[in-house]
Amino acid sequence: MKRIHTLIACTFTAMTALTSCQRGHDETGWEFAPNMYNSVGYEPYSQINKNPINADGKNMREPVTGTVSRRNYKTQLDSSGVDLMIYHLGKDDLAIAETVLKNPIPNNEKSLAEGKALYGRYCQHCHGETGAGEGAVADMYKGVPNYKADAYLNMTDGHIFHVITHGKGRMWPHGSQVTPEERWKIAHYIHKLQKG
Ligand code: HEC
Repeated sequence: MKRIHTLIACTFTAMTALTSCQRGHDETGWEFAPNMYNSVGYEPYSQINKNPINADGKNMREPVTGTVSRRNYKTQLDSSGVDLMIYHLGKDDLAIAETVLKNPIPNNEKSLAEGKALYGRYCQHCHGETGAGEGAVADMYKGVPNYKADAYLNMTDGHIFHVITHGKGRMWPHGSQVTPEERWKIAHYIHKLQKG
């Protein structure tokens, strides 16, 4: 009798053991230490459990009421009120930028003074105080041109804007450092340097 009991117990244990782990493509099996691969922190893009703090249960927060998406952001300038976010030109669109983009900033003493300050901060160390390519960095960083050379005299404002935004050849982009409005002011100042 005792033997039968042992047999039944063994069979039951074996069955439980054999059926508790199923093989299958959709079944990953037991997770031994889920906190090793499921982040304990609140991740915005991968969420497993309902967030207990935010009312909608999501980790990611909605933008605050009144938020304007960048695409629809209108930058009002002094007088023209131009939307600066229309400049969605790519790196290879220099030819388009050259002809299509027009400088919306009035060319006056105030914008030239601001352009000069910005040029001093972001460009002068390569392009030099007079724009002849005599900046200290240009000694090491070869190929900085002279704005007064024939090849550059007819650069349009759109051309300069695009070069600042996306860079060109050996010059790196500066779009993340100067705002569109500031780029136009620098363009005015470069023309001033060209006139000497
Ligand atoms: C690290 C050095 C460096 C800095 C900083 C720099 N440039 Fe340049 N720039 C260059 C070099 C090098 C070239 C030549 C690019 C080429 O043709 O390979 C150039 C070319 C240019 C040209 C002529 C583009 C053409 O059509 O050939 C313009 C315009 C210009 N830079 C404007 C600026 C302005 C404006 C700034 C500041 C916002 C600036 N650069 C900052 C190195 C620099």
